[in-house]
Amino acid sequence: MLTLPYSAVGDFFAARGIDFVWRGGPGRERDARLTMIEDIRLEPFSLFITDGSLWSMGAFSYSQSTLPPETKAGRYCSFAHAISVFQSEHPAHFISTSPFAYRPEAAAIFERAIAEAPGKYRPCPYDDRETASIVIGHDVWIGQHTLLKKGIVIGDGAVVAAGSVVTRDVAPFTVVGGVPAKPIRRRFPEKISERIRELRWWQYRFTDFHGLDCAQPEAFLDGLEKKIALGQIRAFEPEPVTLPSLKEYLEQAARGA
Ligand SMILES: CC(C)(COP(=O)(O)OP(=O)(O)OC[C@H]1O[C@@H](n2cnc3c(N)ncnc32)[C@H](O)[C@@H]1OP(=O)(O)O)[C@@H](O)C(=O)NCCC(=O)NCCS
Repeated sequence: MLTLPYSAVGDFFAARGIDFVWRGGPGRERDARLTMIEDIRLEPFSLFITDGSLWSMGAFSYSQSTLPPETKAGRYCSFAHAISVFQSEHPAHFISTSPFAYRPEAAAIFERAIAEAPGKYRPCPYDDRETASIVIGHDVWIGQHTLLKKGIVIGDGAVVAAGSVVTRDVAPFTVVGGVPAKPIRRRFPEKISERIRELRWWQYRFTDFHGLDCAQPEAFLDGLEKKIALGQIRAFEPEPVTLPSLKEYLEQAARGA
């Protein structure tokens, strides 16, 4: 995990079209810090409404919530506010789910009790800090106040209804909702989903779609196919922000280049 002062790298992100709206109001960015994992990958035109935690996200995606740093999200995603992710799992198969059994350092109450009985206590091995990342496809909309289980995969074009608790993978182009989340409906007839899978419209900048009607999926796909066949548009393949690129920028800045 890497933490950098925003003041040192803000210009780098701004130049690459990665935007931040700081929680806590204007001026908050002055002493903000950005936290990210080593293999972060961010595409331009992404927006974090943030406390400074970053995760991998594709172009034209935005988030009003903070997701775990290992999360990988595609392009054109919309993440509402108050999305959260299950915290660590306690071992329900142990005699007790209390951390005294496996991680007494989690709270001073356990450590103090152990100190009163020196040499008498040994916790059982159990890793509650396993980080299974959540993988989110392209054009995924996650509604407000949803709770996501670690390690799930949310397919391209899926919608997660507000207030859902998602405990299983979500199939592409499916609207899911409820506790636990279950399919509500498919977004499109299978024929259209299949064409979207083939065309992968999210490869393109949305500004390439001028003249196409987003409200008419079938006609949109016909028009997009035509533009592609005529060579009028090309896939958008920007240089992503990665940790090596960020380190290079910092080294150059240190050399005064
Ligand atoms: C799911 C959602 C997109 C609506 O989809 P829809 O297909 O138009 O749904 P409908 O209103 O026609 O309802 C279809 C069924 O889903 C159910 N449903 C709708 N929203 C639901 C929710 N949040 N949780 C559980 N079930 C839900 C309805 O009760 C209905 O069930 P029924 O057929 O048994 O009566 C919408 O309800 C929702 O959750 N929007 C999220 C809003 C949000 O968070 N915005 C943030 C902006 S980034």
